Amino acid sequence: MGKKRIIAETGAGQHGVATATVCALMNMECIVYMGKTDVERQHINVEKMKMLGATVIPVTSGNMTLKDATNEAIRDWCCHPSDTYYIIGSTVGPHPYPDMVARLQSVISKEIKKQLLEKEGRDHPDYLIACVGGGSNAAGTIYHFINDERINIVLAEAGGKGIETGMTAATIQLGKMGIIHGARTYVIQDEDGQIEEPYSISAGLDYPGIGPIHANLAAQKRATVLAINDDEAIEAAYELTKLEGIIPALESAHALGALKKMKFKTNDIVVLTVSGRGDKDVETYLAFND
Ligand SMILES: Cc1ncc(COP(=O)(O)O)c(C=O)c1O
Repeated sequence: MGKKRIIAETGAGQHGVATATVCALMNMECIVYMGKTDVERQHINVEKMKMLGATVIPVTSGNMTLKDATNEAIRDWCCHPSDTYYIIGSTVGPHPYPDMVARLQSVISKEIKKQLLEKEGRDHPDYLIACVGGGSNAAGTIYHFINDERINIVLAEAGGKGIETGMTAATIQLGKMGIIHGARTYVIQDEDGQIEEPYSISAGLDYPGIGPIHANLAAQKRATVLAINDDEAIEAAYELTKLEGIIPALESAHALGALKKMKFKTNDIVVLTVSGRGDKDVETYLAFND
């Protein structure tokens, strides 16, 4: 495509690290926009990006999180259309990004099918559970199962301090139809259509919009959406760590928090995507329990 610069936005820093890794491999300039709040709370990933040769630009507008980083990335992209390629980290942004990101992430559901067939003798689960920020890991988890009604889809969004507190990122439950970053979807907004500042303890879920695919699945009642609060996510993360020896990312901990709110039958096959590891979140986990 003749592009010389790669730009990206990141919340938790996972997408920033992935993009910086690819740029290191291809020897290309890499610029990552990240809200200042997230630069501080996910600093391990910031150090990784710097080691990989990327420039991390802290964004200081709004509440200095993912929405604000995405604003700046889109501004950069608009100013450098000829030499810059924008790699978006979730199923958000203008078409064809949500579709493209969902297709790329669909390796997850392909793998789920393969492993279930090997281990359980059937290629579909009864439940699929994933957290949703913008929606990429959830889209990948459900991609090859969307049209199969035997499978229950459960999406866990960030309740923050509670959906009634005003400090929340429960976009599907609280959002109204609007436009954010070039997509028509549910948006947390005030009566005048101004986007409201979201809140979540987890940087990757702290976003006032949601992928249009997920908004549609919720509107069609194809997906069940649960809001998991900060404390419920933290508790679930500690439980997984104790039971399985796996420290999950704070984002994934929201998916785990959904388990307690659901009722299963003994033989149900439940697949839950643990979208990332929790090394980046150890300080937050420890601080919460102090
Ligand atoms: C580990 C992890 N899981 C989930 C998410 C949420 O993103 P998405 O909803 O696009 O999967 C993030 C975002 O940064 C993340 O870092």
